[in-house]
Amino acid sequence: DRQKKIRNFCIIAHIDHGKSTLADRLIEKTGTLTQREMEEQVLDTMELEKERGITIKAQAVRLIHNDGENEYILNLIDTPGHVDFNYEVSRSLAACEGAILVVDATQGIQAQTLANCYLALEHNLEIVPVINKIDLPSARPDEIKKEIEDVIGLDCSDAPLISAKVGIGIDEVLKAIVEKIPCPTGDEEAPLRALIFDSFYDPYKGVVCYIRVKEGTIKKGTKIKLMASGKEYEVTEVGIFRPSLMEVEQLQAGDVGYVTASIKNVRDARVGDTITEALRPASEPLPGYRPAIPMVYSGIYPADSSDYNDLKDALEKLQLNDAALTFEPETSVALGFGFRCGFLGLLHMEIIQERLEREYNLNIVTTAPSVIYKIIKTNGEVIELTNPTNMPPVTEISYMEEPIVNASIICPSEYVGAVMELCQEKRGIFKNMEYLEATRVMLHYEIPLNEIIYDFFDALKSRTKGYASLDYELAGYKKSELVKLDILLNGDPVDALSQIVPKEKAYQKGRAIAEKLKEIIPRQLFEIPIQAAIGSKVIARETVKALRKDVLAKCYGGDITRKKKLLEKQKEGKKRMKQIGTVEVPQEAFMAVLKVE
Ligand code: GTP
Repeated sequence: DRQKKIRNFCIIAHIDHGKSTLADRLIEKTGTLTQREMEEQVLDTMELEKERGITIKAQAVRLIHNDGENEYILNLIDTPGHVDFNYEVSRSLAACEGAILVVDATQGIQAQTLANCYLALEHNLEIVPVINKIDLPSARPDEIKKEIEDVIGLDCSDAPLISAKVGIGIDEVLKAIVEKIPCPTGDEEAPLRALIFDSFYDPYKGVVCYIRVKEGTIKKGTKIKLMASGKEYEVTEVGIFRPSLMEVEQLQAGDVGYVTASIKNVRDARVGDTITEALRPASEPLPGYRPAIPMVYSGIYPADSSDYNDLKDALEKLQLNDAALTFEPETSVALGFGFRCGFLGLLHMEIIQERLEREYNLNIVTTAPSVIYKIIKTNGEVIELTNPTNMPPVTEISYMEEPIVNASIICPSEYVGAVMELCQEKRGIFKNMEYLEATRVMLHYEIPLNEIIYDFFDALKSRTKGYASLDYELAGYKKSELVKLDILLNGDPVDALSQIVPKEKAYQKGRAIAEKLKEIIPRQLFEIPIQAAIGSKVIARETVKALRKDVLAKCYGGDITRKKKLLEKQKEGKKRMKQIGTVEVPQEAFMAVLKVE
């Protein structure tokens, strides 16, 4: 029967273990694309993604595999590889019956290997381990196989040993997919239930939903209903991924493909939602839907206030394709009109910033990212604070809570001391430690999210010479002693530089920020006092001395090209400055306040 020839699977791996490279080899081997059509890495299509070497949006491709006797349809669903996108990973997994677990033979199990594996097990997926990079001299496939058996409990006796890069063992992987991963078994006659596991906005077709049909049938003309949003549409097209969109007659239980229905906004067809028939609806949606919720907020302002509308347009366009991005107008005394934007995490934030700058050519100023604090006021009211400026007066606050994550860190045992020290500095609470191999350990900590989002990962990498890996998930909120740290320039508080900090670190932070700003803010014609304050109490002070000579003075009467060059340079410098009151502050100052210890 039809479904016996279908396999729906994804590839899970720690970052850089070779997921995309293996996907390419599978696409190549099954002749889905000719050599000429093969781009370097087909599944990572966004330019930014390629540069950063991370998979952001899940995508899918249908492979046709002939094993000599039968022809199989293998639907490969790509998963995002970063903690910011965990929810999208889980939706991609829910679209599959099995997962190929790629483990780098030189590195072994890493934090995201485990995190993804647990996610896959939660979805009852059949996991097929594959040991990659066996071409490297430092590969230790036998040790890694044992590690996977000991730590995850997967049988690795016949795990393919492969090199995705060189192309060794790819046939074995295809064989394992067909033999080990179960075929789908949904009822084709039942009321339609299809899971949306990704979507993107196309200016001509509207939103293109990537779906996995679990039960029933969907075709052009079907009246559909999205069970979470409640909205109804008529299907205009269904199709498959080859890997570009190819229209087909219909999609049935077990199939992976796409649907378009003149949907105007990705928000109306969220990842995780269930599509059913409007006229014969399923009684229950597929399990596990939740809208992606922003965890980190920051202010984004145009460097030049006349770009406000362009910034708004750009954010609206980005949002068409990114249901997790939120924004609303906000005003800052220092920065003028801008937007408070919500992101899934810091990586998501950086990606949006880069896209605004590169794709929309905008010059923006971003304020320090903030997590969502809960403030319980003395009158019982609870506020969710996303902008430090809006913190109510201390007298109205009963207590505050901050978000906490459960973090897992895997590192060679010689770095345990260094990792523990770092976690301690970041207010982490030690939970436990386990040995994965004789020389590698996994540590579990509870750490405030606000300590993680700034520079935790970089610090972790640098203190372990790059050998540690990190994964974390939100664990909830905890009561915490927090204060608002204000920065005053020339006597005036700069709202965009305010941040919420743990009370125990406030003095140290205040001093460090004042010193840092002194370095960053260029000397101007007058003296600029920099102060850090908690409430009305000044806790640190630095001064930027006044400039003695006019920079341009030395060019008067001088060589004209030199003068032009200097003026150009000044203009360049100007662009990245923000006038705050009488003081010119470079853009980097707003982020630099974070990077101090
Ligand atoms: P993310 O998309 O960031 O999650 O990474 P990924 O898991 O998709 O890894 P990717 O396929 O981009 O590979 C990471 C690096 O490892 C690249 O530089 C690849 O060329 C290299 N690589 C992948 N497979 C092999 C292999 O079999 N042998 C060797 N030597 N290098 C490999």
